[in-house]
Amino acid sequence: MSVGIIGGTGLTALDGLEIHHREVVSTPFGEPSAPLIHGTFRGREVTFLARHGEGHSVPPHQVNYRANIWALRQAGVERVIAVAAVGGISDAYAPRRLAIPDQIIDYTHSRASTFYEQEQGQVAHIDFTYPYDAGVRAWLLEAARDAGIDAIDGGTYGATQGPRLETAAEIRRLAQDGCDLVGMTGMPEAALAREAELPYAHCAVVANWAAGLGGGEELSMDEIRDHLAYGMEAVRTIITRLP
Ligand code: HPA
Repeated sequence: MSVGIIGGTGLTALDGLEIHHREVVSTPFGEPSAPLIHGTFRGREVTFLARHGEGHSVPPHQVNYRANIWALRQAGVERVIAVAAVGGISDAYAPRRLAIPDQIIDYTHSRASTFYEQEQGQVAHIDFTYPYDAGVRAWLLEAARDAGIDAIDGGTYGATQGPRLETAAEIRRLAQDGCDLVGMTGMPEAALAREAELPYAHCAVVANWAAGLGGGEELSMDEIRDHLAYGMEAVRTIITRLP
């Protein structure tokens, strides 16, 4: 079972991946963020893609989500794990925690968010009631349990436009809407994976309390980096434990 891993901030490469080849891909929707890195990780076939590019130069609103998902699909991956940094809103979603969310509210705009444009001559309305694949979620949670990592099962991911962080009032609104965590890259990535019929789930690493929470101080980039490094180590452990 070959798995695609989309790495976000804090995971631009996968240490321990035995690289077989790098593939520069082009798609009908343009170029993905980076070459695909094909290899094996603990005996499992893995294709890794750095969402923000190998030099972390592509901001969230300019990621070519369509090309990224298309490239993974074309490469024949059967499941996708999307790793991303998030801000925590609900109490349980504290910095350094991992979460496997089960719902999304999309606040992004002006992003190319479907493969089904008018030029394709086809209108499609995918079912998105449950935006993440139950099988991939269960798989991640089992690996986490196995590794002794207490990942949160569930939560609503609020996808914001970025690249700036949110205001305190925006986070209050997200909390009222029922969001538990907030990030900038979860959409349209998840919807495109569903359109491409790629089973997809999200492994979120809480890097900070969202704006105005956790004492209400301004967000410190050094602290975010620290929490993220800690959380991404746990993500690597989970990936090594995938059953
Ligand atoms: N907001 C949005 N995206 C993020 C955050 C945040 O607080 N932290 C990490 N990614």
